[in-house]
Amino acid sequence: EADPIKDRYEDSFDIGAAVEPYQLEGEQGEILKRHYSSIVAENVMKPISIQPEEGKFNFEEADKIVQFAKDNDMELRFHTLVWHSQVPDWFFIDKKGNSMVDETDPKQQEKNKQLLLKRLEKHIKTIVKRYKDDVDSWDVVNEVVDDNGNLRESPWYKITGTDYIKTAFETVRKYADEDAKLFINDYNTEVDPKRTALYELVKDLLEDGVPIDGVGHQSHIQLGWPSTDAMEETYQMFAELGLENQITELDVSIYGWPPSGEFNTYEEITDDVLQQQADRYNDLFKLYERNQDIISNVTFWGIADDHTWLDDRASQYSNDGIGKDAPFVFDPDYNVKPAYWEIMD
Ligand code: G3I
Repeated sequence: EADPIKDRYEDSFDIGAAVEPYQLEGEQGEILKRHYSSIVAENVMKPISIQPEEGKFNFEEADKIVQFAKDNDMELRFHTLVWHSQVPDWFFIDKKGNSMVDETDPKQQEKNKQLLLKRLEKHIKTIVKRYKDDVDSWDVVNEVVDDNGNLRESPWYKITGTDYIKTAFETVRKYADEDAKLFINDYNTEVDPKRTALYELVKDLLEDGVPIDGVGHQSHIQLGWPSTDAMEETYQMFAELGLENQITELDVSIYGWPPSGEFNTYEEITDDVLQQQADRYNDLFKLYERNQDIISNVTFWGIADDHTWLDDRASQYSNDGIGKDAPFVFDPDYNVKPAYWEIMD
């Protein structure tokens, strides 16, 4: 049996995986227990899953992941309290049934803002109180900066400005365990102008006393992009602000951008591509290891190549509507890939 990845990096950082509850059982469950020391929900802790209707909280699926983490003594990341996607519409509809985003009257706008911040507080308070003893790292806000370097024009932003960010962090800090770490999470954090925008935002929020402990770098990356130099520079930039870094959603797509989806099945993927990916993983884990003082967790956005959101993406962009990606270190049958040997070396 393959040596556990978590043991290889025990002295450096936790090794995590994102999961759907059905993956906690059977062969996938065994791989999880053997190789990973940290876990995060791929979908079931997002606002639409936990509070689909106002006041109706649904913790059933989320609880399964929390229980698995407890039973197996794993770190738990919570993803995510605030996002512009997978958030139910009711958050942004006022008591008369109108969209708050479209409101033009300044007096009503102010009322809407207060209402939305109250709803946000209640959402966060309910979740954090339930899981405070279990969660080690909270993704408090996700993807609040746009690729063009502006703050993302989400309903949250249109209705409250940046107050939703402040309220979110302050509410988590108020109810969470004092050792729990609070993260701002995003993708393409290594790429300008987004990187600079995120840096400036975090710096301003910190100066404003907003309790941020770390930056989550999603790391949905490609074989040759972004460069490891850019990544290293990024982690060090945020560390200089006194923040922790976590790699929160790592996957290495075998495609460039846009993904061609040229491989329709895993079997069609060439050894050459898998070796390129293995080399990339080697560079990445070397980079993480030499920055272990400023990186506390490296989480993959899945377990094995049988289940990845990148298949949907590759299919969407592919000419024939079918595309298979293979971003992890385990193949679709849960066997180790060349990338596994490189990160264990
Ligand atoms: O649950 C429904 C199911 O009832 C329905 O039949 C089915 C039909 O399409 O959809 C199911 O919901 C899907 C959901 O995943 C659960 O499987 C959604 O369509 C699908 O869009 C959703 O995709 C997730 C995506 O976030 C949503 O934007 C991916 O699984 C998940 O990997 C992805 O994760 C995000 C991170 O949260 C943030 N960073 C980027 C990352 C990748 O996009």
